[in-house]
Amino acid sequence: MTSPLEREIASYSTANPISEDLHKKASKFMPGGDTRNSIYWDPFPVYITSGEGTTLTDADGNKRTDFVNNMTTLILGHRPPEVTSALASQIDKGLSFPAPSPSVVRWAELMCERVPSLDKVRFVNTGTEATLNAIRAARAFTGKQKLIKCEGAYHGNHDAIQISVVPPLDEAGDAESPESVAAFPGISDTAVDDIFITPFNDIAAAEKIIRKHADDLAAVIVEPVNGQCGMVPAKPEFLEGLRRITDDLGIVLIFDEVIAFRIAYGGAQDYYGVKPDLTCFGKVVGGGMPVGAFGGRDDIMSLWDPSDGGSVVQHAGTFNGNPMTAVAGVATLESLTPDKYEYLERLGDMLRSKLRTLFAELEVPMSVTGVASLFALQFTSTEVTDYRTYATNNKEMMQTMFIGLLNEGFLMSNRCAGNVSTVHTEDDVDAFVSAVKNVLRRSGYA
Ligand SMILES: Cc1ncc(COP(=O)(O)O)c(C=O)c1O
Repeated sequence: MTSPLEREIASYSTANPISEDLHKKASKFMPGGDTRNSIYWDPFPVYITSGEGTTLTDADGNKRTDFVNNMTTLILGHRPPEVTSALASQIDKGLSFPAPSPSVVRWAELMCERVPSLDKVRFVNTGTEATLNAIRAARAFTGKQKLIKCEGAYHGNHDAIQISVVPPLDEAGDAESPESVAAFPGISDTAVDDIFITPFNDIAAAEKIIRKHADDLAAVIVEPVNGQCGMVPAKPEFLEGLRRITDDLGIVLIFDEVIAFRIAYGGAQDYYGVKPDLTCFGKVVGGGMPVGAFGGRDDIMSLWDPSDGGSVVQHAGTFNGNPMTAVAGVATLESLTPDKYEYLERLGDMLRSKLRTLFAELEVPMSVTGVASLFALQFTSTEVTDYRTYATNNKEMMQTMFIGLLNEGFLMSNRCAGNVSTVHTEDDVDAFVSAVKNVLRRSGYA
């Protein structure tokens, strides 16, 4: 007797023989057949040949509606004409220069105009570098070393922050004062010692931990919408509380808006009305090109200013602010007018509401989390508000849904998180909800 997951995998393998062959070849040259663990899945990922609007085509010619948008990046969908034409004209002018270009000035201006707390900004090439630099700034500015982050939050792939991302529950300690657990071997012990962990969305617990370590703390870093646990929005009082406490104690508050910038015209801080001292960006702000950015208060950002005798903090990067990424970023931000955010929020609300109706009708122990254009399926009857509640998900059911949706012609992230772009429509939402229903029915979960 095969399980629903095994049956979905068998159909998937039959429909994707060229991807399977590519995966075998890829695995000879790259561990796991690719260079990003976050987009690996068993038994093998599909290999994508093109994307257009909402549709991805794979090496076998299968077409799927994409609800991943390169991990929330492609807010205008694949190959939006305003971005591809900006890139095409930049190709005619040059790919990267050893001095700034006018496009980076416009890009910085757009960021500072729309994000409430941004006096100044710097560009890098990944969200990882954005959090690395923001943390370094907080340490240089305060002269202190220690950090606080939330359990179950991902802030990029560097030692300081690869702690307690998906900690095994038997190592994670008490829910209200979790242990710092290295995400994997190879993380320095100092990094583990330099960080304290708070539960997400529990301001009373967070306040205790922050006050306990206040004398040593450089920064508190928080993701206003926790992507790793399924696009779980912060409760307003959590962010407001972190702002009040860090203000009180002179600790730098960093928002990681690498994903959450997507939820409103001025990012998550605009949505929540809470101004951090520093903010990290990535994904959307580069219009589909490699990107990161960090910025905030003038007095902190001036650490990097090399004029008048040199910067306190060094910051180089061969491709920082390169003109290809800059023009894609400018084209994307200029295209993202307030009405687009209203549309994204309406479509996201509709999708969440239709899924909730479906789960109630089918009486399945599932729910949907998310805010604005972000959403995730949760395979648990527990309300998901943080890492410990997220950990109650039925992993086999999640995996069955993920592969089942691939078989139905939809791509979500392998943890069943998704997001809508400005080119998704109500028809896409309806088709997706039907596909979720089909998978639940044929797998016997409903
Ligand atoms: C919240 C958050 N911060 C930081 C990062 C790291 O960004 P990048 O993958 O561009 O290094 C990510 C990536 O998914 C993220 O979701």
